Amino acid sequence: MHTLTNIDRSQWDISSPLHNKLTECDRPIHAWYRFVLSFPPHLVRTYLSKFGISAGDTVLDPFCGTGTTIVECKKFGISAVGFEANPMAALASRVKSNWSIWPSELQRVARWAAQKAQDEIDEVLDRTQQTVLSGSREQLTIYGWRTLDVDAHKLILTDSISPRPLHRALVLHRWISAAPSELLEPLQLALAWTLVVHAGNIRFGPEVGITKPKEDCDVVGLWLQQCERMASDLEVFSDRQNIPTQLIQADSRDVSQLPDRSISAVFTSPPYPNEKDYTRTTRLESVVLGLIKNKKDLRALKEGLLRSNTRNVYVADRDDQFVADIPEIQRIAAEIEAKRIFMGKDSGFEKLYHRVTRLYFGGMARHLESLKPKLVPGAMLGYVVGDQASYLQIMIRTGQLLAEIADRQGYEVVGIDLFRTRIATATRQQLREEVVLLRWRG
Ligand SMILES: C[S@@+](CC[C@H](N)C(=O)[O-])C[C@H]1O[C@@H](n2cnc3c(N)ncnc32)[C@H](O)[C@@H]1O
Repeated sequence: MHTLTNIDRSQWDISSPLHNKLTECDRPIHAWYRFVLSFPPHLVRTYLSKFGISAGDTVLDPFCGTGTTIVECKKFGISAVGFEANPMAALASRVKSNWSIWPSELQRVARWAAQKAQDEIDEVLDRTQQTVLSGSREQLTIYGWRTLDVDAHKLILTDSISPRPLHRALVLHRWISAAPSELLEPLQLALAWTLVVHAGNIRFGPEVGITKPKEDCDVVGLWLQQCERMASDLEVFSDRQNIPTQLIQADSRDVSQLPDRSISAVFTSPPYPNEKDYTRTTRLESVVLGLIKNKKDLRALKEGLLRSNTRNVYVADRDDQFVADIPEIQRIAAEIEAKRIFMGKDSGFEKLYHRVTRLYFGGMARHLESLKPKLVPGAMLGYVVGDQASYLQIMIRTGQLLAEIADRQGYEVVGIDLFRTRIATATRQQLREEVVLLRWRG
């Protein structure tokens, strides 16, 4: 087994431009499904090593995303717990950290489902290809093509998948549903990957964009190849299947369900306060897999997330009260609002800019407060966050403000490391992405 003391220390230069790539040696398991928000595994390794974490410790990632922290911990024989509120990301983290699946069983069932799905797809397409080249939802349904329900269809980004690949994916999804329960989620995750990487007309940069439509795509063949890769990764890591890993699909602004004094370290990357609706990042696969079916589901998802953009701000939100006494946050929020009024910007979203800024930091304050009893005295914490200037170009130094909140709550601020810099599109200013390092005094 690898240990954190024999890792390649050349990767410790986290400000190097190569820092964010998924290297070939990291592809097993991490590459099963990632998204544009994922951080690189070597960043986790670097900090776990700096924190002196070893077997016997338990690491928490409260904003777990696609599971980079908990997977990396498991690879090194360290117990880990993740919180994730987005059901698609939670599914990815659950699957990527469950290594007790029999690889041969995964392969066998995947091949069976692929065969069944392909037969059904060919039958329908052969029957209709002379007559159907494209068509409305209703027309396609008449010809036997599978399409999304009306409510579900409204949730996906327009043209994010063409009718033919969608038909293939939906037929396959139905056959996956017939798999034994322990294989259901791994097979679904492989389909999510196939949709994002191959079948959909989407690209990330970091917003989701629509590409030239792909008329067709071998959804089943590509999915099967991914299942085979997953099976072979499981084979390689079978000796670590008993390392405990847990994924809690819940809102980590309240972590009270964790046992007291159970967490030895935290390594995480929460959302940043900007105008990106990150539920769009996982929208296509969430809808095709049926994880969100209508507007009500989408709203419930957004309500469970930290408030980081004006698309998920609600009248009943009260997190702002947790930072009411922090002058710098109040100053920035007031400056945003004053600039908005001065510029005559009065759309509903623009009017919420100052409020989302307070709610964001308030949510982080609530999270840090609820975490305190769960930490072992001396626990080290790393929060990867980025500066932002999305709200009328007023600079928000996220890392510094988070450090101030933590300091007021009794955490020791050990330092703020630079992870990387980005150029803000509007202002051409350098924005820092940093790792805020804290220690719980206990
Ligand atoms: C920057 S991403 C983390 C990416 C992760 N480090 C990885 O490598 O995939 C932040 C994640 O926090 C999740 N999130 C946002 N608010 C949350 C909350 N209140 N509770 C739990 N998860 C939340 C988002 O859904 C998103 O997946």
